[in-house]
Amino acid sequence: MLPLSSLCRGVRFMAQQHVVALECCSVLCTRASSSSCPSSLHVPPPACMLRPLEVPYRYLFGPGPSNVSPRVLAAGGRPIIGHLHPEMYEIMNDIKEGVRYAFQTTNLMTLAMSGSGHTAMECAVFNIVEPGESVLVSINGVWGERVAEIADRMGAKVHTLVKSPGGYFTNEEIEKEISKHKPVLFFLAHGESSVGLAHPVDGIGDICRKYNCLFLVDSVASLGASPLLMDKQKIDILYTGSQKALNAPPGTAPISFNERACQKMFNRKTKPVSYLLDMTHLSNYWGNDGKPARMYHHTGPVSGFFALRESLAILTEKGLENSWRQHREVAEYLWKGLEDLGLKLFIKDKDLRLPSVTTITIPGGYNWKELLTYMMKHHQMEMMGGLGPSIGMVIRVGLMGYNCSTYNADKALAALADALKHCKKHKA
Ligand code: GLV
Repeated sequence: MLPLSSLCRGVRFMAQQHVVALECCSVLCTRASSSSCPSSLHVPPPACMLRPLEVPYRYLFGPGPSNVSPRVLAAGGRPIIGHLHPEMYEIMNDIKEGVRYAFQTTNLMTLAMSGSGHTAMECAVFNIVEPGESVLVSINGVWGERVAEIADRMGAKVHTLVKSPGGYFTNEEIEKEISKHKPVLFFLAHGESSVGLAHPVDGIGDICRKYNCLFLVDSVASLGASPLLMDKQKIDILYTGSQKALNAPPGTAPISFNERACQKMFNRKTKPVSYLLDMTHLSNYWGNDGKPARMYHHTGPVSGFFALRESLAILTEKGLENSWRQHREVAEYLWKGLEDLGLKLFIKDKDLRLPSVTTITIPGGYNWKELLTYMMKHHQMEMMGGLGPSIGMVIRVGLMGYNCSTYNADKALAALADALKHCKKHKA
């Protein structure tokens, strides 16, 4: 038998011909002592990288990401083109049109961020607010907490309007705080996915205008599932994420700014703290600044934009109102099934429930983690516990976009019934 060191030299020679052989050499070199196989590398090739990629099939019935349709997956698998090619600009233009439809806005300053919903959240705060300015954030779940933290980090004066998880704010309460703190920005989560609440929006835009404050709304969990009309409801800045009812893979985040918001963000005294999220650059990159040339700013996620374009096309073909109706009907079917199982819904008022993410009060005596683990193990199904302030209070079931059907609601109900039967009930 040849010593390992000579084997290694032999394979090295072949490696010049073929990359597979190089990987083979790496394996053998890893096995040989470093002195017998001189190399400039001190980190050996990781064994995991020499195995094929494995991704299980999961029923993603939590708050997102959700399962993605084969059409959207196929769009993401199309050949890469340059992010500054004219065809890519066309696709980005399509995305802007699709987002305007989904948001119900005619805003010119409409685009998609390269990144998740958090990127859009930071983009909104960083571009609108200057250090020392006052911001009012409503907190009734996790997303307000995040915005407050982001605004605090960039040096804003943060005021909060807080309710226990799942609570909501009346317009009177909001007006009282806005008139007191005179913020430049007021934040509200329309779809508070950590508690399963769809917050009413009507009238808040008028209050914000009265006090010369901009109205920022998070619709990551609600867009396409629960009615929202950016222009009519006088929302100044609206953002969402790709991975919920829109049903694209995570990693892109539509956002839109109206004229009032543009006035504020393009007449700042200081530069936004983030170069990547600076809207002066992004507006050019997306062809929104009226300049003849679109310049390099960063390299956008080409495949992610293909997938987002296609998910917006699916929403357009289906029709926004049909999508809202479908989410509501499936949610009502699910709510009834959950109550038939003896479970209690966390948001009592049906009109305040988010159709895309339903929250169930953790059933008495059960350990919520055991229920979730059971469903993952026996049904390959993801549901989730609470997030932020709702941890330990709820289990969250999401049926959105491609997953939004009574068939899937039945699957979710069957998995829950099975988990309730087989998981141990602990004494209180
Ligand atoms: C994330 O968006 C979540 O609601 O868990």
